[in-house]
Amino acid sequence: MTTSASVDLTIRDISSGAARGSTCSTTLLEAPWDVDAGPSTYGPGASQADPLPTGSPRQGQIPEAYRTASREELDARIRAAKAQLGERVVVLGHFYQRDEVVQYADYVGDSFQLATAAKARRDAEAIVFCGVHFMAETADLLSAPEQAVILPNLAAGCSMADMADIDQVEECWEQLMEVYGEEPDADGLAPIIPVTYMNSAADLKGFVGRHGGIVCTSSNARTVLDWAFARGRRVLFFPDQHLGRNTAKAMGIGLEQMPLWNPRRPLGGNDERTLQDAKVVLWHGFCSVHKRFTTAQIDQARAEHPDVRVIVHPECPMPVVDAADEAGSTDYIRKAIEAAEEPTTFAIGTEINLVQRLAAQHPQHTIFCLDPVVCPCSTMYRIHPGYLAWVLESLLEGEVINRITVGQDVAEPARLALERMLAAKPGAAPVDAEAPAPGKQAAGARP
Ligand code: 13P
Ligand code: SF4
Repeated sequence: MTTSASVDLTIRDISSGAARGSTCSTTLLEAPWDVDAGPSTYGPGASQADPLPTGSPRQGQIPEAYRTASREELDARIRAAKAQLGERVVVLGHFYQRDEVVQYADYVGDSFQLATAAKARRDAEAIVFCGVHFMAETADLLSAPEQAVILPNLAAGCSMADMADIDQVEECWEQLMEVYGEEPDADGLAPIIPVTYMNSAADLKGFVGRHGGIVCTSSNARTVLDWAFARGRRVLFFPDQHLGRNTAKAMGIGLEQMPLWNPRRPLGGNDERTLQDAKVVLWHGFCSVHKRFTTAQIDQARAEHPDVRVIVHPECPMPVVDAADEAGSTDYIRKAIEAAEEPTTFAIGTEINLVQRLAAQHPQHTIFCLDPVVCPCSTMYRIHPGYLAWVLESLLEGEVINRITVGQDVAEPARLALERMLAAKPGAAPVDAEAPAPGKQAAGARP
């Protein structure tokens, strides 16, 4: 594999034979609109085999001028539009976004940092979110009502987030209430507290807000589970089974107390006894990018580089996290590399755009992705400079395109669940007197 920062260039070099290596797809390099206009799939990339739910947002065809413009022309148009818009617009770019888009971002970060950035830029009329759908929804929840959050390509979803929908979660909750009842025990603990990963639709964040629950990210999952266990006997964790399992295991919870909930089976495929004994009920969701990492890759990295430091994201399967030296969020990985004083060899288990960018930014270290196949997050990859040029030039003409808005009925409890997360502190799990009892409607004010 080459060491170019840009995954696009790496894929281009691999496909032309200019570089050795393999890639899972070359299709998105030039024309994502062909994928958008085609049959309903996530498109090429790590999640292409995942079934796309019916009703997922579709991106209509964008004007031909943006589809046929050269890279150089798009670059000039994006820069000119941004310069003219000035402070009226803020462009956010997720760590996993391709470099060809990240170069225009005013802020680059993880989903949590970008949500905070959205909250901090109240002066901007529009927030252009170069990430995926659930991130844009979160930005809408945390920004001012008059600010428009724009997702340049509506088809930029997240296959993991789509693995839990509100109907399935409501149905699961009903069944769990039949098993556990709704009343708190003698210690005042609720039978179960719902926790949703940030990577979920806003209506799921609203669900946990309404039922005394909370949102977590990969950087605060432990703190959030402590918060939940201060209020309940058990946790329902969705949609990512791996983040839930890895975090609960690190807290000393046994695997036998973490049954998996398959939404297509009665009681999620469990018997009542198992559910009674459970501490964490794990939803059957996963990330197709992080599922690609294996212990065999770690073994190989250690064989080839005996001093290698292996850091993986907690969305990786448990055996991979156990075999790594460290596991942490995207920001943890970035900070660990920045903090290394001596030249170090790092093998990283997370999305390739971030790994290659870190490698280019830290030439004193040897940094490579554990997965030898160059296989980006296909949904993040749906945002091409052509879409960014389209939404920015439309703003100049006074037109807001692809605005992401969370309805008020969902927004209030979803904001409450996010605010509980923002207020949760490591090591402290005070029971918040204002937190509504599970099952009661929450009243949350827009911050
Ligand atoms: P972060 O929360 O670290 O930004 O990660 C988001 C994500 O999608 C990980 O796969
Ligand atoms: Fe979703 Fe995985 Fe892509 Fe993150 S890397 S946006 S969890 S599909």
